[in-house]
Amino acid sequence: MRHHIMPTYASMPVRFTKGEGAWLWDEKGNKYLDALSGIAVCGLGHAHPEIAHAISEQANTLIHTSNLYYIDKQEKLADKLCELTGMNDVFFGNSGAEANEAAIKIARRFAYKKNIDQPIIVTMNKSFHGRTLATLTATGNSAVKEGFSPLPEGFRHIPYNDINTLDILSKQLPHIVAVLVEPIQGESGIHIPASDYLNKLSALCEKNDWLLMLDEIQTGVGRTGHFLASQQNGIKADVITMAKALGNGVPIGACLSSNKASGLLTAGSHGSTFGGNPLACAAALKVLEIVERDQLAKRAWALGNHMGKVFKTKLEHCDHVVEIRQKGLMIGIELSSPCPELVTKALEKKLLINVAGGNTVRLLPPLTLSDDEAMTITDLVSELILAH
Ligand SMILES: Cc1ncc(COP(=O)(O)O)c(C=O)c1O
Repeated sequence: MRHHIMPTYASMPVRFTKGEGAWLWDEKGNKYLDALSGIAVCGLGHAHPEIAHAISEQANTLIHTSNLYYIDKQEKLADKLCELTGMNDVFFGNSGAEANEAAIKIARRFAYKKNIDQPIIVTMNKSFHGRTLATLTATGNSAVKEGFSPLPEGFRHIPYNDINTLDILSKQLPHIVAVLVEPIQGESGIHIPASDYLNKLSALCEKNDWLLMLDEIQTGVGRTGHFLASQQNGIKADVITMAKALGNGVPIGACLSSNKASGLLTAGSHGSTFGGNPLACAAALKVLEIVERDQLAKRAWALGNHMGKVFKTKLEHCDHVVEIRQKGLMIGIELSSPCPELVTKALEKKLLINVAGGNTVRLLPPLTLSDDEAMTITDLVSELILAH
C-alpha cells in the first residue's frame, strides 16, 4: 500500500481515520489517547468544532486568491499576532522550515545592508530548524545533513545554554549578524536552558548589533504556559518564527519581525504562492481566538506543572530515569539508555508518545486535555518507564 510513498519516515503501522479532542481512532475502531498532538500541532485537540466550522465556512466562501491581491484574513491574523507578541510585521508561509527560511533571509538582508558579504548566523548544537537546505544547515545535528552537500555557507554552531562561548566568539568573528535559537530545544529531547539564558542572549545581541531570532515553532501558541515561551523572560526578539500549533493542523508558518529586522524583506525579495491564504488564516485566527478566550496558556502551565509533579513522585525511585524536564505541556523524561521501543509499547497500550534525542520520552499533549486524560497519560507513561 505504501509502495509509492518515498520512505523518508519510519512510520508506525497504524492509520488513523478520525479524532476528537485528545483521542484518535484507527481503521479497526481502536481508540488511542494522543499525548503528542501530531508533534505539537493539534494544541486544541482533534476535530475541534469551532476550528472545523471556521475552515468549512472559509472553504465555502474563498480558499485562495494568491498574494497578488490583499487578503482580509491575512491582515487580521498579522494584526492579532503582532498584538499578542509585540512584533511589528509578519510574513506567512506554510511550515516551520519556511518560517525559518524567511528568518535566515532577513539575517542575510540585514548583513547586506551593513555591507557584510560573508555573514554568519550562530545556531546551537542539538537544535532543530527544519529540512530545507538552509534550515538543515542551521540545525545542530549532523545526521540530518548527511549526503546533502554542498550546504549553504554562513552558519556556526555553538553549545546551547552557553553564553561564554558566544561572548568569546563575538571577539573572534566580526561577521556574526544573527543568533537563531529555540527557547526550549524540542526535537533533541526537551532541553530547557537556564532561566536567564534568553535574557543574556538578548543583551549580547543588543551589544553586538546582532539579530536575536527565536524559533518558537514548537514552543509557541501557549504550549509552555505563555503565548510564546520567550515571554516568560520579558525579552523582545528581532525575529520570531512560528508554525505547528498556529493552524491546529492546517499548514501555516509565520515569520514575525521587529526593531532592526523590520522592513528588510521588500517587494519581490520573498514570497510563497500559498502563504497566508484565506483558508489557513481563517483557521489560525480561530486558533488564536480560542487560545486567548479559553486561557489555554494558563491551563498548559497549571496542568503541565501538575503532570511534572506526578511524574517526579511516580518515578522518584526509578534508577534509569536521569531527569524529568517540563515547561507547561512540553514534557521530557530522559532515561539512561536509548528507549525507542517505548513508542511501540505505548502504542500497544493505545497511547501515542514519542522518543526524542534517542533516550527522552517526549510528551506534547493537546492544551485542552482534561485532568483525567492527563492522569491516564502519567499512569501509562510511568508504567512503561518503570517496566523498561
Ligand atoms: C523548533 C522547530 N523548528 C522548525 C521545525 C520545522 O518545522 P516544519 O516541520 O513545519 O518545517 C520544527 C519541527 O519539528 C521545530 O520543532
